[in-house]
Amino acid sequence: MAAKIFKELPGGLKMPAIGLGTWQVTNEAELENALNAALEIGYRHIDTAFVYQNEHIIGRVLQEWFSSGKLKREDLFITTKLPMQGVHQDRVELFIKKSLENLQLDYVDLYLIHFPVGIKHDDGQNRPPPEKIQTEPSDHVAIWKKMEEQVDAGRTKTIGVSNFNIRQVDTVIKSARIKPACLQIELHVYLQQRELVNFCQQNGLVVVAYAPLGSPGYNKFTAQFGNEPKNLPDMLNDKTIKKIATKHKKTNAQVMLRYLLQRNIVAIPKSVTPARLKENIDVFDFSLDGVDMKALDDLEVGEEARVCDFKFFPTLLQHPEFPFSK
Ligand SMILES: NC(=O)c1ccc[n+]([C@@H]2O[C@H](COP(=O)([O-])OP(=O)(O)OC[C@H]3O[C@@H](n4cnc5c(N)ncnc54)[C@H](OP(=O)(O)O)[C@@H]3O)[C@@H](O)[C@H]2O)c1
Repeated sequence: MAAKIFKELPGGLKMPAIGLGTWQVTNEAELENALNAALEIGYRHIDTAFVYQNEHIIGRVLQEWFSSGKLKREDLFITTKLPMQGVHQDRVELFIKKSLENLQLDYVDLYLIHFPVGIKHDDGQNRPPPEKIQTEPSDHVAIWKKMEEQVDAGRTKTIGVSNFNIRQVDTVIKSARIKPACLQIELHVYLQQRELVNFCQQNGLVVVAYAPLGSPGYNKFTAQFGNEPKNLPDMLNDKTIKKIATKHKKTNAQVMLRYLLQRNIVAIPKSVTPARLKENIDVFDFSLDGVDMKALDDLEVGEEARVCDFKFFPTLLQHPEFPFSK
């Protein structure tokens, strides 16, 4: 089965190379159907976050699978993330406990710092609206110590970071007793992040690609803050990718995901559509050759193709730890 292709994390934990993204799915029935379909198809890796406000739905569906005996906890790889309001040494434990309670789990497989910037915390619930967000200093060394304590306490098997740049990953590596197992970043054919990927792979971190299909649903998210729709990169209709897809009797999405796998990168495409869920994990029965890989390498656009730039929270940009170019 497709989900049996793994990347090994430090400590021997195995992460299935295709996972299920769940950002923006908060409708109970929609997520329940998608999760049930995904688990039937063979997905064993689920990516969520405290801020996605869907951990409780995932928890409920997983409990059904466990209690029916169709799955055991150890069959699954579950990732969740410390929200920006938890990016402070005094609040890591508080937030991982909230996530575990929502997920109805004793532990997650991977706990990530979602974003390198911390914001002021009020009631510990959801993030305030963008205009009310106030940042605060973020001491990554002190926060990482608290992340390590979550491994010691058995609340997570491994820990990692997301949206960190090279300098920030390096700071964590240098101070770490337990090295970061993973960096999760936006990564697709138009934004290949080669320097950052090389740095992580040389230092033993598994790179996980978010928005691997270019996040075509992104504008729905920013519309809630009244933002103008962004001109999104359209890789699902890219002609070069289409040519390669036709050659292999695959779709553009499958070529884009396969490209990442062949660069030793895990991908977490999100879909709530059963046919697409099948399509996105059906990427282990073909190989891109050197000519295909070169043609895909050449599609790199760079920073301009970044979709998820977090600029929808304008105050973050002023913070010294804002990780992307402004
Ligand atoms: N760490 C972070 O800061 C961060 C940021 C963003 C995302 N993430 C994680 O990464 C996951 C993936 O990123 P993403 O959701 O932004 O973007 P994505 O996976 O690149 O794209 C998802 C979108 O593509 C559509 N889609 C899925 N498969 C398709 C296919 N085969 N053909 C055509 N369209 C397809 C989906 O529609 P339907 O669902 O309608 O099928 C959905 O609108 C997230 O869900 C989340 O778990 C993490």
